[in-house]
Amino acid sequence: MANLKEITPTVKYVGVNDYDIDLFEGQFDVPNGMCYNSYLILGDKTAVMDSVDGHFTEEWIGNIKEALGGKEPDYLVVQHMEPDHSGSIADFMEAFPKATVVSSAKSFPMMKAFFGTDFAGRSKTVAEGDTLELGGHTLSFIGAPMVHWPEVIMTYDKEDKLLFSADGFGKFGAMDADEEWIDEARRYYIGIVAKFGAQVQAVLKKAAGLDIAKICPLHGPVLCENLGYYIDLYNKWSSFAVEEEGILIAYTSVYGNTRHAVETLAEKLEKGGCPKVAVYDLARDDMAAAVADAFRFGKVVLATTTYNGDIFPAMKDYINHLLDRAFQGRTVAFIENGAWGPVAAKKMLGMLEGCKELTFAENIVTVKGALNAESEGALDALVEELL
Ligand code: FEO
Repeated sequence: MANLKEITPTVKYVGVNDYDIDLFEGQFDVPNGMCYNSYLILGDKTAVMDSVDGHFTEEWIGNIKEALGGKEPDYLVVQHMEPDHSGSIADFMEAFPKATVVSSAKSFPMMKAFFGTDFAGRSKTVAEGDTLELGGHTLSFIGAPMVHWPEVIMTYDKEDKLLFSADGFGKFGAMDADEEWIDEARRYYIGIVAKFGAQVQAVLKKAAGLDIAKICPLHGPVLCENLGYYIDLYNKWSSFAVEEEGILIAYTSVYGNTRHAVETLAEKLEKGGCPKVAVYDLARDDMAAAVADAFRFGKVVLATTTYNGDIFPAMKDYINHLLDRAFQGRTVAFIENGAWGPVAAKKMLGMLEGCKELTFAENIVTVKGALNAESEGALDALVEELL
């Protein structure tokens, strides 16, 4: 990883950090902010790779001008039209009247929709395999539809062996966030792109044929070393493979009794030798992290109360998040609580039974109010089954 202003001698970082954002895409908590990456390629001609969120237009254009040292940019390559990257396109085109915007055919109607113009006469449409010769840098374009919108392209710089990967290989957090890449990259990938695993797999296959020295995403650090590590994780995530041995327990609890059952289960699993047990209170903990961990581990325990003849709202919300992301290929177990007429396990099963390749644990634990000898015995049977 690198937090660089100079990616190579002729490719500069001109992106911005956002420390003010509370919820990325209106839903993801980003305690360490975000960055909207943009790069300047200095060939005989110059190209800027993507714009930034519209709140940072002035700072971004200032970065470009400083890095250009008096030159004019010839091209703005737009790889993705989501506003965190497209928000400053119109201002760029006004600030640099000689520039041409380069993008896929699907992007230009989106520009018209966002800005009222598709920059006709100042635009160049590119598709898979097309190249843009800058002189000293040759950019070739790779179609990456649905990673994470339909218009997305990635770009390969042949001379410097750089893959500009759009949203791919991104993470939450400002560029200077002092944190491990993996957790925030997983939370970002599963939160935003997980549903499109097949499309990510298709792009990874194309990228496998390229000699890549550095990956330059639109969020998070430039990846400079040990690229196999990151590509392997993307392979796992996009194929819905289990990343790590362990068990996720996601629960809701109204008066603490379901929490007590969950804590008892977690203790028994740890004692039984489970290498990692991750526990989330769905009403209080970060929903996106709880969702990401359901894809990280191979086994998931869902524990909730019967509520209005259904399940507790936060658990319903959680299962819907899993369904939205094509949750599949895991073992799922249920703990239900209900002092009278418990139906939560049946309801959770009903929500999940259409998922691909899920295995449901035979031992369903029913807690009637509070954990007792009988329900603790059922927990022991579940521990044995899961381990
Ligand atoms: Fe970072 Fe899909 O936008």
